[in-house]
Amino acid sequence: MTGRRQKRERAMGFELVFVLTCFWACNPIHVHANTNTKDVSSLNVLYTYLNSPTQLTGWTANGGDPCGQSWLGITCSGSSVTAIKLSGKGLNGNLGYNMADMTSLVELDLSNNNLGSGGNQIPYGLPPNLTRINLAQNQFTGGIPYSFSQMTALSYINLGHNQFSNSLNDIFFNLSNLTFLDLSFNTFTGNLPNSFSSLIDLATLHLQNNQFSGTIDVLANLPLKDLNIENNHFTGWIPAQLQKINPVVGGNSFTSGPAPPPPPYTAPPPPPPGGRKPTPSINTPVKKSGLNGGAVAGIVLSFLALGAVIAGVIIIFIRRKLSKISKNQGTDEPLTRLASNEYGGSELKSFKIEAPKSSLSTSVSLKPPVKIDLYKSFDEKDLTMKPILKKISFSSIRATVYSVADLQVATDMFSPDNLLGEGSFGRSFKAQFDGGKLLAVKKISRSALPNQSSDDFAELVSNISLLHHANLTELTGYCNEHGQRLLVYEFCKNGSLHDFIYYPEEHGKSLSWNNRVKIALGSARALEYLHETCSPSVLHKNFKSSNILLDGDLNPHLSDSGFADLIANPDSQAAEASSGYNAPEVVMSGQYNLKSDVFSFGVVMLELLTGRKPFDSSRPRSEQSLVRWATPQLHDIDALDHMVDPGLKGLYPAKSLSRFADVIALCVQSEPEFRPPMSEVVQALVILVQRANMTKRVLNADGPDTESHNFV
Ligand SMILES: *[C@@H]1O[C@H](CO)[C@@H](O)[C@H](O)[C@H]1NC(C)=O
Ligand SMILES: *[C@@H]1O[C@H](CO)[C@@H](O)[C@H](O)[C@H]1NC(C)=O
Ligand SMILES: *[C@@H]1O[C@H](CO)[C@@H](O)[C@H](O)[C@H]1NC(C)=O
Repeated sequence: MTGRRQKRERAMGFELVFVLTCFWACNPIHVHANTNTKDVSSLNVLYTYLNSPTQLTGWTANGGDPCGQSWLGITCSGSSVTAIKLSGKGLNGNLGYNMADMTSLVELDLSNNNLGSGGNQIPYGLPPNLTRINLAQNQFTGGIPYSFSQMTALSYINLGHNQFSNSLNDIFFNLSNLTFLDLSFNTFTGNLPNSFSSLIDLATLHLQNNQFSGTIDVLANLPLKDLNIENNHFTGWIPAQLQKINPVVGGNSFTSGPAPPPPPYTAPPPPPPGGRKPTPSINTPVKKSGLNGGAVAGIVLSFLALGAVIAGVIIIFIRRKLSKISKNQGTDEPLTRLASNEYGGSELKSFKIEAPKSSLSTSVSLKPPVKIDLYKSFDEKDLTMKPILKKISFSSIRATVYSVADLQVATDMFSPDNLLGEGSFGRSFKAQFDGGKLLAVKKISRSALPNQSSDDFAELVSNISLLHHANLTELTGYCNEHGQRLLVYEFCKNGSLHDFIYYPEEHGKSLSWNNRVKIALGSARALEYLHETCSPSVLHKNFKSSNILLDGDLNPHLSDSGFADLIANPDSQAAEASSGYNAPEVVMSGQYNLKSDVFSFGVVMLELLTGRKPFDSSRPRSEQSLVRWATPQLHDIDALDHMVDPGLKGLYPAKSLSRFADVIALCVQSEPEFRPPMSEVVQALVILVQRANMTKRVLNADGPDTESHNFV
């Protein structure tokens, strides 16, 4: 009797424990001490990325309860992690890849460690609601990721004393709460971006000991109290407003003339009566008035500048009238460019002036003001018709403007000898400029941009010019003249990946395994940038081996980025299917999404692994579609040995090959939602490369392998 009852009670006890456990585990939100699961897994990954430092008491790489067990440096509110403060803890490694999941985190302080050593960059995924981020005194390289532009709650950013080196992107437009920004003691380059003018709460700005250049006009109206910009390459004048706060400015090349010219963001000249307003500068904070000598001089100069603009407009107007007689389709763009450039002086200076000297606006702006009839010119219909305030004008684009004549000379009249290739949007030519500089010129075909207006082209150029990544082909300039639309890119010496895989004899060798992995990783980073760094995300839509160009060191550069809008949804499904790159959802229904790019990426990895074309009608029917033929065999090590590109001559580590195949299998799944985001693909490939390098060091006794290094 009692025995049976005991048994029953024990059984009930188990049930109770079971129910409680389930309650505990399944309802973290209701249980106070249990930390939010997303925060836990982000901290687990962070711990791993920091190389599991033992000094972080309480931390683990697997599960745990950061709030309940009070992990070192963690502050919580309820079950959410709100702060990570680990300054000066001797940490190395990097931030984890899923920091963006920590939506409750408001403070991240990892200053004064060795993070980033070994060439690591700040990852793109960062906690979205941070108000304070301090990564000062580490060893981060690269640039500031675009994700900062979304972190609108930020009031404090300290990235000083690292090894950042890129130029700053326009990431500050929405950071209106920022009061403290320290980028000092790095090697940042380039001009201060226009979006600085949106930092309407900025009190402290430390940019000292970098390589910044250009003017500091964009800072003129900020409510700064503490400004240090010493030891850079700044030029121009120090705006009068800033002189009042005793800025630290030594070690620059400022002009110390008597009357500073009006900074571009102050005192815009009054519009002529009945005329248009000049392009307003963005987000100009309202200025208190009060005329001092400088301001009066500024206004006088502004009127002189206005005269120059009007003179320029007249000149263009006459040119247009003339060219309309001879040719038919003059465009309105030079006008737009000119008119808005004259007022945004910094815009003008940002045009690179290396190769050609043809930019119309530059030449006109140098002419002395001419006395002209102000009102009449602005009453002309032609001038008022085209809106100067339209969304995108060439004036906002930072790139060199080339003339058709320049490009004809550089390409030897677009000689077939200089033809680099023919893509979906036109032909590319090799171009050689003065001093031997090589660039690639892409002639956009009329079928790609059928609309005769320049707006589409301006939008295209503008979109492309915003994309900057080491693994994207960099746009250096464009030409929009006489109805020609040309884009000028950096030149990649080793041609396309497609040609390198299928015509290796032209290079005298086929790609080594390490180079294939490096190319896969670089291309993955390019897509990761487009998908996850750019905001809004940029679809590529045309990812294929012929769009991956290889430079002298076989680093990949993805081309045709920013063209997605020009790609019509497939109307010929058969043709699309036979290209072999498109994901099933694209072929079936024309639905294109980020994961469709991931599929195409998997196909390119398959090309790298097998040396086979995505669709090859010369093969037996069952082998024509590369994905269909390869997918069932990707997890079979013996089969892999038979699938691998014979050009590799067996020279590859079997482990690495099989991990590579695992990544492919994830990417080419037919259900888009099962394919990983590109950041995960990048992480998987990084790990693959790290392991390969470790093995290499052990094996290196056999002899040097010159190609194994510099996986970035
Ligand atoms: C934080 O960010 C997320 C996503 O960006 C957002 O949904 C959420 O409302 C934000 N605020 C807090 C307090 O979590
Ligand atoms: C900026 O600061 C104000 C005042 O502290 C706050 O109300 C606002 O929510 C902040 N903006 C963002 C985007 O967090
Ligand atoms: C700034 O925020 C607004 C709305 O919050 C958004 O529409 C805009 O795209 C943002 N701008 C940038 C440059 O991120």
